[in-house]
Amino acid sequence: MKLFFSLFLVISLISSCSTGELEKKTTSTIPVKNHSFSNVDSIYTKHLHLDLKVDFTEKKISGVARHQMINSGTKRAIFDIKGLKILKVTTGDVNNETNRKYEIGKETNNKILGKPLIVDIDKNTAFVNIYYETTKESEALDWLDSTLTSSKEKPFLYTQGQAILTRTWIPIQDVPSNRITYSADLSVPSDLLAVMSASNPKVKNKEGMYHFEMKQAIPCYLIALAVGDLVYGDLGNQTGVYCEPELIDDCVYEFKELPDMMKVAEDLYGEYAWEQYDLLILPYSFPFGGMENPRLTFANPTLIAGDRSLVSVIAHELAHSWSGNLVTNETWNDFWLNEGFTVYFENRIMEEIIGKSKADDLALIEFFELEEELERISKSAHPEDAHLFLNLEGRDPDDGMTDVAYVKGAFFLKTLENRVGRDKMDVFLQSYFNHFKFTSVNTEKFVAYLEKELLKKYDIGFNYKEWIYEAGIPSNALVIESKGFERIKLMAEDISKHKLSELENKFSLADRDSYSVQEWLTFLRHLSSNISAERMKVLDESLQFSAWTNAEIQFEWFLKSISSNYTPAYPYLSAFLEKVGRRKFILPLYEALYNNKATKEKALSWFDNYKQNYHAVSRNSIARALHLKN
Ligand code: BES
Ligand code: ZN
Repeated sequence: MKLFFSLFLVISLISSCSTGELEKKTTSTIPVKNHSFSNVDSIYTKHLHLDLKVDFTEKKISGVARHQMINSGTKRAIFDIKGLKILKVTTGDVNNETNRKYEIGKETNNKILGKPLIVDIDKNTAFVNIYYETTKESEALDWLDSTLTSSKEKPFLYTQGQAILTRTWIPIQDVPSNRITYSADLSVPSDLLAVMSASNPKVKNKEGMYHFEMKQAIPCYLIALAVGDLVYGDLGNQTGVYCEPELIDDCVYEFKELPDMMKVAEDLYGEYAWEQYDLLILPYSFPFGGMENPRLTFANPTLIAGDRSLVSVIAHELAHSWSGNLVTNETWNDFWLNEGFTVYFENRIMEEIIGKSKADDLALIEFFELEEELERISKSAHPEDAHLFLNLEGRDPDDGMTDVAYVKGAFFLKTLENRVGRDKMDVFLQSYFNHFKFTSVNTEKFVAYLEKELLKKYDIGFNYKEWIYEAGIPSNALVIESKGFERIKLMAEDISKHKLSELENKFSLADRDSYSVQEWLTFLRHLSSNISAERMKVLDESLQFSAWTNAEIQFEWFLKSISSNYTPAYPYLSAFLEKVGRRKFILPLYEALYNNKATKEKALSWFDNYKQNYHAVSRNSIARALHLKN
């Protein structure tokens, strides 16, 4: 009787496997590789088809992810999932599907990685179909009520996949080393347009049904979706911009140089591989300046400064069409191969668009930021984060998103260029992109290629090992000088020396135009660290920094306002934090508020009030910085 009873228990346990309730019962430990549980070495997705419905009332995406896979003969396929509700898994072609057993592993590290979805398959299975729904925990998704859009009339949804958030809206093998093509059929509310990192519609249709194709193979962190009240503006030469209707004129003006940037980029490193290049201007909550989703860069509206002063971010995202999207970092430890190359490339584009001396100013601002970042990293729990090649095992890949990958990476290439000469450098990079196109590279492969195709070939010595595998900035780093910056630094240092009465007559609003935005940024950064609130007030009255609507200027001004307790700026700061969700700005602002005794409470109460306006990427980072549970 006892035996019979336990047998019954075992059988019922096994049979419940196919119902999707097994989470509690799984004990197996799945190895983690490249921030993923997936067994891509045995079976990998080649093409993904998404059949999804976007439901704004429930704030939920539901449907099926159909994986067409190459199976080397394994009997289980493992996917990454996080914050997803799995409803059913089948194998086989559409209309010929068989239900399959699956397990959802309970792993210890799941705060970062989520969980493995383990599906029983046959050794010749090639189609795995996962029926699922997203949940409130699907961190890639930002569901915006209409109040957070520009028109305040229609809701908005967008996704952010990089680095490992695609698994929070699609069950997938979430590694940058595997490339897939994808297609999608989406059903969305009929008053909204859906766009993806794929071939895109230009206008709405009354059924709200859209079909998408991405025919070039991409790493899955680049799958992206946005749904909103969008219109399209053509910028010429296979470029354009999607945005909310009332922004279209401003966008077309701001991003007018896009076709020129494209031409410069193609002249440098070869033909653009993705046919069309459009921008999508998202609501202010978007956590980044830009995100290089192929064919459709996602961009933050803070880039619309009105004077094209912040378009280098667009040059950056365009550059990713080569560095990152065409040649992809194989693991997140090799992130500098994406970002360092892109910052270098971005600056080469800007050199042609705005001229060498202004492009140098842009690079120099980045270099100052790198120096500050390295200072912080050297005192942190992970001083080895100052290496270009990282070790992010067991950590959130987000931790690798520092100026080291971006700026130290770019200065490595700038210094190399300076050593070998621009001609050889350009030929080398052209052949690098061509040789590795549509594949992933790691640091070791890059080093081997560098040795063979550049250094050995021309018998040139270069300390690349020091750059890549050691901390700090090597002493041969290229030095950039800027006369404009030297002048404005002196002007900034002077501010604390003047009598207040002298300062009152020093500037007027018209002086804003005498210097570039980058020069003003340098001015603000070089104001004395203990400048008084009175002096800040005089500067504000003459130059109106608090009311300046350039987000980069606002950011620097607010930082100074917090450190000097210049309280008249706080209503502007509060409004900025309420509206803007770009992490690069708001995280340091919250940190500064929190670390100043006088404003610590403000940091907490503002965050509490505004956090629902932010994407999870920003919200989680700030919650951590403010020592809040999230
Ligand atoms: N790919 C990045 C954004 C990113 C990196 C998202 C890692 C998630 C994980 C994008 O290209 C980027 O670097 N954006 C920068 C722009 C810049 C450095 C010009 C940004 O948003 O500030
Ligand atoms: Zn980038």
